[in-house]
Formats: sequence, structure tokens, C-alpha cells
Amino acid sequence: MSDTNTIVHDVIVVGAGLAGTWAAKIAAEQGVRDVAVLSKIHPLRSHSGAAQGGIAAALGNVRPVPDSGPRGPLEQLPDGATPVDNWELHMFDTIKGSDWLGDQDAIEIMVKEAIDIVYEYEHMGCVFSRTRDGRIAQRRFGGHSAPRANFAADWTGHVLLHTIHEQALRHGVKFYSEWYCMDLIVEDNICRGVVAMEIQTGKIYTMRARAVMFGTGGYGRAYKITSNAYANTGDGVAIAYQAGVPLMDMEFVQFHPTGLYKHGILMSEACRGEGGYLLNANNERFMERYAPDKMELAPRDLVSRSEQTEIDQGRGVEADGQGIYLDLRHLGREKILKRLPQVRELAIDFVGVDPIDALVPIQPTAHYSMGGIPTDADGQVIYDAEGTPVTGFFAAGECACVSVHGANRLGTNSLLEASVFGRRAGYAIARFLESGASLQSVSGDPAEKQRQRVQRLMAGNGKSSESVEKISQELKTTMTNQAGIFRDGERLIQASGTIHRLRERFANARVMDRSSCFNTDVLSALETEHLLSFSELIVAGALERKESRGAHFRTDYPKRDDENWLKHTLAYQTPDGPRLAYKAVNIDWEKYPPQERKY
Ligand code: FUM
Repeated sequence: MSDTNTIVHDVIVVGAGLAGTWAAKIAAEQGVRDVAVLSKIHPLRSHSGAAQGGIAAALGNVRPVPDSGPRGPLEQLPDGATPVDNWELHMFDTIKGSDWLGDQDAIEIMVKEAIDIVYEYEHMGCVFSRTRDGRIAQRRFGGHSAPRANFAADWTGHVLLHTIHEQALRHGVKFYSEWYCMDLIVEDNICRGVVAMEIQTGKIYTMRARAVMFGTGGYGRAYKITSNAYANTGDGVAIAYQAGVPLMDMEFVQFHPTGLYKHGILMSEACRGEGGYLLNANNERFMERYAPDKMELAPRDLVSRSEQTEIDQGRGVEADGQGIYLDLRHLGREKILKRLPQVRELAIDFVGVDPIDALVPIQPTAHYSMGGIPTDADGQVIYDAEGTPVTGFFAAGECACVSVHGANRLGTNSLLEASVFGRRAGYAIARFLESGASLQSVSGDPAEKQRQRVQRLMAGNGKSSESVEKISQELKTTMTNQAGIFRDGERLIQASGTIHRLRERFANARVMDRSSCFNTDVLSALETEHLLSFSELIVAGALERKESRGAHFRTDYPKRDDENWLKHTLAYQTPDGPRLAYKAVNIDWEKYPPQERKY
């Protein structure tokens, strides 16, 4: 610490999930002496740990038992047999899954490095599930044409996170646990640090660094039903936007088909990968109507829309007809206990149903943010379609948009993306510092603006006609009903108006708790401000994009329109609201030209 209000490090990483921790570990390993990671929660509670079903990589360790049909059992690859999988198949599946909006140069890097990074995890001691002969076990996942989800039962994110966290500690990375990043300091397109609050004391510091990296996660908490942790309030994307960085493809929000009914908690896609069925109120496996080849293992956008259609047409289950059943009973007790133990516990704990002998009520749940802070394949944040860098600012994982997922992410590609691009960002940061990047000056006292922000929330007698919680709930209801799985122009215009009014109301909101120690009242107000800020961009991008692609489905424009919309959205902050610009998608027109997307 250089003075009582300023903290200095060589590198500050915000977010302790897989992307941030990989970047920190690699930078430290490459010789950067002073690497710090800030996390608003305990680092090991980061949301990467909640991913259950697997990390994708075309290891080719297993194959379907010959002649057993597309959903038949898997066996370990016999010695000498040709693997059924390779990185090129993984690449094509990812491009098709993205509805051709993914950048193909970045996808190629990801799927090639996938194989190496899974083995790197293994060499670091990660406890993967195994085949009988000791190879890493693999299972099927939606939209993947081969079994390539490498897993540790249904605790995959958890074990990967613990593995990389240990390595970061081993390399001397300093963790600031329960520190909340409030602002990004960017002047003249050069990043100079962040402003952060120590939650335990409420003290706000300017934190200067030669490089800053965001691995702050996604923005699913803008929706009422979500699999996202309470912490996933999109702080990083909102903060970057406020600092003048554009956000890319924010309109693409993924709904996972199997969130626990009413709770949204993830019931891993591994349930269907292991052979689970989806049933409607008539006991029909309705996916036959929507994706006859892939059935329950079609990509998430398609399965969630199919479920919602069943619900909307009156074939949903539970008292309000808003659910669907997940049927795992035929998998048998032994398989459920071995492969899906967490899923079973969650179903028992939250809805009182044991999947071994009962149907689990589920519903689509906001799960993943395809959009975020635009970066190149080394995590370097870029400012525009020409790739102008925001010097000294890096991002990776769900808060970033590199873009490998395009309009719809395939399951298991997120742990992969966070790991691969977090690692690449770590190397890029080390190179950036090695090239002589110095600590940049900061004008004035950036922390003061944030102190005033908190003081405003605490002003008066704490009483206000505007409750932050009420504003937050109204926003979530609006986003769910008007910018959710199905969208149309009319509802998006209404959503835009509602968000505008909610922002005006927020200006008058005050918190009750005016203490400084662990003031969660203030924290949730700051988070709500962030939700309001980026939700406006989800709606603006969705309203402007007059087509349906991947997770963005407009009932008034139900077809994909490559002629006009095969492009990324960039949203810039202006005093009059967001300004949208567009950026070309990187496509190899010879090898992977856009095709109709059928499953
Ligand atoms: O369904 C799941 O296990 C989630 C995995 C993912 O989102 O990649």
C-alpha cells in the first residue's frame, strides 16, 4: 500500500473464477511478482464452481457401443480403434451451436487448446471421473456430435476451480476475499486500475496497477428464474460500460432447459447426457416434435424454446402449468449416485423429490451470458470493430465476448472458454508487463466519486418511497416477461420504457442500513444499479436485431437473416443512451460457410 487510500499492484485481476484465477496463476508463473485477485465473495464460491456436467475437449477416450443407436451406451475406446472425435468436429459443432455468430478464428484456438488444457488440469491433480482403464471419462452433451464432456461426476466446475486456486496460491498470488470492485479507471483509452470497497469495513480504495483483468462472470441475475449465483449481477460488464468500454452482443442470453422448478437451480445437462428424458403433462417425450435426431440433446436454445412452447400451449406440469418433467428414473440408482450425486441432492433439498424414483419438475432458467466485454483471443479488450485496444485492460470468461459462443453456447464450452482464454490472458498480461508497461498516473481521486455514490444511497433518514429491492424485482419480472425466451418488438419497447422509469426511480432510492461493516444493503443497491445499466443494452440490442438467431428469438422475425444480421452488436455509452454499432463476424467462408441449423 502506498498510502492509506491507495493500493498498488503490478496486476489486479477482478473475479476469482476459472478465467481470473488462470490468468493470475499464469502471470505469476511467468515471473510477474505482484499479482492480486479481488473477489466480492470467497474465491472458492465463484460461480465457475457451479458448473456441473463437464468441460469439452475432443479427447476421443470413449465411443458409442457399435450398433447401439444414437443414444445407446458408451464404451471406452478399444486399443487401436480410431477415435470418433477430433478438434475439427468440436469446431463445427461450436460454430453450428453459435448459429454462425461465433468468431471462427477464436473457436479454432479454443477447440485446439481444449485437449491440452484438460490434460494440464489432470497433471495439476484434478480428480476427473475415469473409464475402466483409467482414462478421463466422457459423456454426451447437447449439440455435440460426439461424447466430449470430460467430467468429475456432476462437480466438474467445483473440482476445476479448487485445482487452479491451489496453483494460484502456490505461485504466490494474493487474494482479496470479499472486496467489491466499483469502478474501472480508464483515461485516454489506457486502463490505470480500479476502485474497490473492502466489504468488511466499507472502506473504498483506489487500486492502481500496470494491468487490470476482469473475470467477473455473467449477468443472469437480471432474470427472475436463473441458475446464476446471487453474486452474478454483471458488475464487471456494467463497470466497463460506465468507463467507456463498449459491450458486445448483449442481447444473447442463454436459457438452460433444466432449472429446478420455481428455483432455477441447475439440474445439469448431464442428466440428459446420461440418458434422461423430458416429459410434458401428457407424458410425451415432446422433443420428438422439435429435434427428432438429437431429441433431449439438441442445443439449449432449441430445447428451452420447445419446453416454453409446450408450457404456452397448455402441456406444462405442476399446479400452474409452468413446469416440465425431467425423468431420470430409468437410469437406475447406481448410475444416479455415481454420475449425478449433486443433482440428486439438489432435487431432494429444494423440491423434495428423489430422482431415483420420482419425476423432477424443471423449467427453463436464465443461465449464461453470451455477450460481454469485447476482446481478442489474448484477452486484450478492444474498443471498436477495427480492434483498437483499451491498453492495459484484459478480460476473459463469461464477462468477456471473444466471441466463441456467438448466439448460443454449447454446454461444457464455458468451463473450457474460461480456462483457455483465462490462461491466454495470463500469458498476454505477462508479455505486456515484460514489454515495459508502467504504472500510469491517475487524475484526481477516483475513489471519491464512489464514496459519494455510497453517501447518496445513505443520505437523508434512510427512508425513501423507493425500495431498491422492489426496483430489482420489477426489473427481473420485466426482463423475464418481455426480453426472455420469446421476444417481439412491442414487448421490447415496453421493456425499454420500464427500464428507463426504473432508472429514474433508482435515483431516489435510499438504503436503510447506514453502517459500514458488511453493509449488504449498500451492496445490493450497487448491484441493482448495475443490473439496470446492462439490462438496457440487452433490450436495445434485441429490439434492433430484427431476426431470430440462437438464443435471441423474435416471434415477429422468426427467421435468421444473414443478409442483414450476420454481425456482432457493439453498444457504446452516450449521454442520450446506448449507441449501437456493428462488427463483422470472423468466418472461414471456404470451410464453414453459414448453413441452415437443423438438429
Ligand atoms: O448443465 C450443466 O452441467 C452446465 C454446464 C455448462 O453450462 O456448460
